[in-house]
Amino acid sequence: MEFSLWIRSLILLSLTSAALSATPRKPVDVPFGRNYVPTWAFDHIKYFNEGSEIELLLDKYTGTGFQSKGSYLFGHFSMNIKMVPGDSAGTVTAFYLSSQNADHDEIDFEFLGNRTGQPYILQTNVFTGGQGNREQRIFLWFDPTKAYHRYSVLWNMYQIVFFVDNIPIRVFKNSKKLGVKFPFDQPMKVYNSLWNADDWATRGGLEKTDWSKAPFIAGYKSFHIDGCETSVNAKYCAKQGRKWWNRPEFRDLDAAQWKRIKWVRKKFTIYNYCTDRTRFPQIPPECRRDRDI
Ligand SMILES: *[C@@H]1O[C@H](CO)[C@@H](O)[C@H](O)[C@H]1NC(C)=O
Repeated sequence: MEFSLWIRSLILLSLTSAALSATPRKPVDVPFGRNYVPTWAFDHIKYFNEGSEIELLLDKYTGTGFQSKGSYLFGHFSMNIKMVPGDSAGTVTAFYLSSQNADHDEIDFEFLGNRTGQPYILQTNVFTGGQGNREQRIFLWFDPTKAYHRYSVLWNMYQIVFFVDNIPIRVFKNSKKLGVKFPFDQPMKVYNSLWNADDWATRGGLEKTDWSKAPFIAGYKSFHIDGCETSVNAKYCAKQGRKWWNRPEFRDLDAAQWKRIKWVRKKFTIYNYCTDRTRFPQIPPECRRDRDI
C-alpha cells in the first residue's frame, strides 16, 4: 500500500514536471521571405535553398541586415544563427526586437566576435521606455561558429525570456509593481544584422577588425515568428489573455528551467549589471527579486 502510493506520487511528480517543463511552442522553419525583408546593403545578403537559409556579409565598405515585415505585440521569436568563423574580432552579429519610437523598448542578443580560437561573448540587454543599461554578458558552452544554434525570445505579459537552444539564459520579469517599466503596448519588429563595432566590442575596442580576413560571414535560417501582428489586427492583439504565450505555464520558469538558468549564471557569467555596484550603487529594482538565483 505504501509502496504503491510512493510509486503513484513518483509518477505524478514526473508527470507534473513534464507538464511544467513546457518549452515555447515548437518553432516552425519558414523561408526568409515569409517573415523578413532586407534592410540595407541588399547585395551583401546571399540566399540559399530557396531562401530557407541566408548569409550576411561584412566587408570594409559595409555590413548588412534584415528586419521583419510585421510589427508584433508579444510572442515567440527565434532564429538559427551560425556566427562568423575564424577571426571575427570587432564584428557584432545581432538578433533583436525593437519598437520604432523615441521611448523605445528593445530586447537584444548581441554576439561579439573574437580572434581565431578565442571565445565569442553573448551580450543581452533590455530597454524599456528608452532606458537600457541592463547588460549581461556570458560565454557560451559551445563554439557558436561551428554549427547553427537556436536563439529565441519569449515575450509575454509576465516575462521576457532569452533562450539558447531552449535553455533559458536570462529572464526579465514584469516588475511593474516595483516601478520598472515593462514593454506592453509598443509593437516591436525583429531585426538582424552583422556590422563592425571594433570601437567597443572586443576587449573594449582594443582589438581591431582585421579587414584582410573579410568578408566576414554569418549564416541564418529557420525564420520563425509566432507573435501577434499588430499591422494585421491590432484589436485582436489587444486580447492577450487568449494567446498561448500567456498561458500559466509560460508565466514563470519552471523548476527545471530555474535550475538551468542558475547553471548558466554560475558557470558562464562574465558581467551582470545587477551586481555592478560601481555603476549602480543602488541595486536596480528588477534585480532585487532574483537576488537569490
Ligand atoms: C576574447 O577572448 C579573450 C581571451 O580569451 C577574452 O578575455 C574576451 O572576453 C573574449 N571576447 C571578447 C569579445 O573580447
